[in-house]
Amino acid sequence: MPSIPTVMERGDYEDYESLPKPRTIKGGESMRVIVADDYEIMSKEAAKIVADQIRKRRDSVFALPTGGTPVGLYAELIRMHKEEGLDFSRVFMFNLDEYIGLPEDHESSYHFYMYDKFFNHVNVTRDKVHIPHGLAEDPEEEAADYEWAIKRVGGIDLGVLGIGRNGHIGFNEPKTEFGSSTRPIYLAKRTIEANARFFEGDHEAVPRRAISMGIRTIMNSRKIILLANGTEKSHAIYQTVHGPVTEMVPSSVLQLHPDCTLILDKDAACELEPSPNGFVPGRGIRTMVY
Ligand code: F6R
Repeated sequence: MPSIPTVMERGDYEDYESLPKPRTIKGGESMRVIVADDYEIMSKEAAKIVADQIRKRRDSVFALPTGGTPVGLYAELIRMHKEEGLDFSRVFMFNLDEYIGLPEDHESSYHFYMYDKFFNHVNVTRDKVHIPHGLAEDPEEEAADYEWAIKRVGGIDLGVLGIGRNGHIGFNEPKTEFGSSTRPIYLAKRTIEANARFFEGDHEAVPRRAISMGIRTIMNSRKIILLANGTEKSHAIYQTVHGPVTEMVPSSVLQLHPDCTLILDKDAACELEPSPNGFVPGRGIRTMVY
């Protein structure tokens, strides 16, 4: 097995001041931002892009997030499957991440989430579904195998992302190297606090580690969409679009991606500056280019 660089990040980034200055890259590609009036419209816009990708290439490879944000997207894709015959049978699914230490049937595991919220309700082919194994004996080997599994099918066509309040994508917390590949990581304190809601509010129950696709793995996707809703994400979105490209805000790297679209509700977009290129393609939706 070829060795893949592993970055083991501690998530306690509270004392930034004492850290060496992060690398900052200037310049980048233009970023498309779709602002939907509400969560439902946001989810439907995202679902259209996913469906278009499947129609364009039936055996497309997807990276998929969990959490609160994509629930509406998955519900809309299920509707499209049931009512419009959207066919998932040849599609490859790769989850962005999974907690280390949770069995697949644990209700807060990402395995459980994905089958419960999505896979059980559409015609995915089980052996085309990939989620890192949280109980793997050797998480580093599991992560390296996962990275190779993505490569073997030709890389990700469409990466679907959520975003943490600290700008994490996947579980790539602040300070993650942009060159990182799939590997075991430590969750940041803020992420543990935010995700306690999926563990009946019990912070202690949230695993401290996960296996996550790396920034490089995500950036190698041919196309990326990032979904965010709610004012609690608005500052991370501001930093993603207008901030410097820095490893302190992992999502800022998306400024360097050639085909990245943010799909937001109004609340998540509330800190964005008006775009000189803004136009209004349809009711309830504005598209801006930065
Ligand atoms: C989870 C993932 C994370 C979440 C992010 C936002 O698979 O990749 O980056 O997308 O933590 O989570 P929610 O949507 O719960 O706010």
